[in-house]
Amino acid sequence: MRRRENLQAVQFSEQAWNTLQSELAATGFNSEVVTSFPQPLRERLLVLPGVVANVLRTIRHVSTLYDELSLTPEQRDTFQLGSLFSDLGKSGPAKATQEQQNEIALVFRPQAGGDPNTILLKDFLKHRGLEHRDLLAHLEELGLQPDAMTMRVFYNHHILWTQEILEQAGSVLPAEAVRAALVHHQLDGYPPGVEEVELDVVAKLIIIADKYDAFRCRSEWSHADTITELRRKVKQDLGGRYGEDKEFAKILDVFEGGMPVEGYCNGLH
Ligand SMILES: [Fe+2]
Repeated sequence: MRRRENLQAVQFSEQAWNTLQSELAATGFNSEVVTSFPQPLRERLLVLPGVVANVLRTIRHVSTLYDELSLTPEQRDTFQLGSLFSDLGKSGPAKATQEQQNEIALVFRPQAGGDPNTILLKDFLKHRGLEHRDLLAHLEELGLQPDAMTMRVFYNHHILWTQEILEQAGSVLPAEAVRAALVHHQLDGYPPGVEEVELDVVAKLIIIADKYDAFRCRSEWSHADTITELRRKVKQDLGGRYGEDKEFAKILDVFEGGMPVEGYCNGLH
């Protein structure tokens, strides 16, 4: 009984998809491209309402800066689609059933549960009250080892899972948006299996926008601290190739001057 309550499983419904389509259109997404999303992709988006809400919030803010960022209409579309696709893997690997997608999405839902670098997946689930025998069995079926992998290793899987899901969705998705989505964690280093690629301006914007949103709303950092940390990360973590990069510098300058200092997480000003 408790398990059902915890999972709050999202079932696909046309009505829910139509609502999401309207929200995407209101946020400036190209309706023709959204209408062409294959069914498995629609299902994934509906399994991840929190992720989609964060992406839409980020896009609404960044879209007020498009002119200052000198983005072409094509680059704006690519940024939006790439952002939307980035965290699809938080619903599990391509082969996950709808039930398993809901379970994985639940484990990814942000909540304090210890240091992800040291806490094991199994202990995290226990802490969250999710240590059910069939959930553990499902995770093992998907190739995870709850009693041997840390949460950090578990979290890193979402990048490869995003890749799998987008590969399976095939050529209906704009290739540039797929490429941009797959690099969104490059500031955090490259998990095994993720290829290091040259970053274009849209990929850089996705990386910065994703982290900016996480620091402001998930970690509750101030605007000023977030900008300082992002500058430090670009300099140190990407120092070899992008430490002095002019496009990263411009994006950070525009964010510094243009993102709201107060109320970013609650809505637009
Ligand atoms: Fe991510």
